[in-house]
Amino acid sequence: MNHADHVRLIAGGIPHPGGVWADMGSGNGAFTLALRDIVGPGSRIYAVDSNQGVLRGLIDQVERIFPDTNLIVQAADMTGSLDLPPLDGIIAANSLHFVEPRKQTSVLREWRSLLKPEGRVIIVEYDAEEGNRWVPHPISARALKRMASNAGYEPPKQIGSRSSQVMNSIYAALLLPVQRSLVK
Ligand SMILES: C[S@@+](CC[C@H](N)C(=O)[O-])C[C@H]1O[C@@H](n2cnc3c(N)ncnc32)[C@H](O)[C@@H]1O
Repeated sequence: MNHADHVRLIAGGIPHPGGVWADMGSGNGAFTLALRDIVGPGSRIYAVDSNQGVLRGLIDQVERIFPDTNLIVQAADMTGSLDLPPLDGIIAANSLHFVEPRKQTSVLREWRSLLKPEGRVIIVEYDAEEGNRWVPHPISARALKRMASNAGYEPPKQIGSRSSQVMNSIYAALLLPVQRSLVK
């Protein structure tokens, strides 16, 4: 997948430019760049990854492609307590499948508490039930539905998908906290 594919996959979940976002398990920034392309220079993006080395690569990429980005990198465990301001959105692309299944739901619940009331979570994952050494704990679209309900989100809305050479297909889903529908 190239940059345009990344943008296409997640754009449907991002309602407007600007805002404060976090990219959890950002790696070297493929989706940080896609996010930045969509939300523009008026946004602030926190890139969180436990691997300091990939964050250096991410900084280089962002400086080269979108030098006016308000980027803050954090070398941290995305499943732990994080020092972040209230967020308009979280994206977690190909990272939640590294978290043990018994912890995935509680991580999603914790992320909900990081959001502003109108905030959102975008998950990009392989739509597969069986893991392998590269994708140890995949989260199929069906599994995400169950996890979202248990973590306090409305049913996931699929915003994009693509066939994948790695596994069956890759999808992007939007999660909105349940309290939003109660407020409306
Ligand atoms: C497959 S890469 C995906 C990178 C990027 N999001 C993408 O889609 O191209 C997964 C990333 O998640 C990070 N990661 C895995 N578990 C993590 C954790 N508990 N906390 C923070 N980062 C984590 C890894 O260090 C790695 O950079």
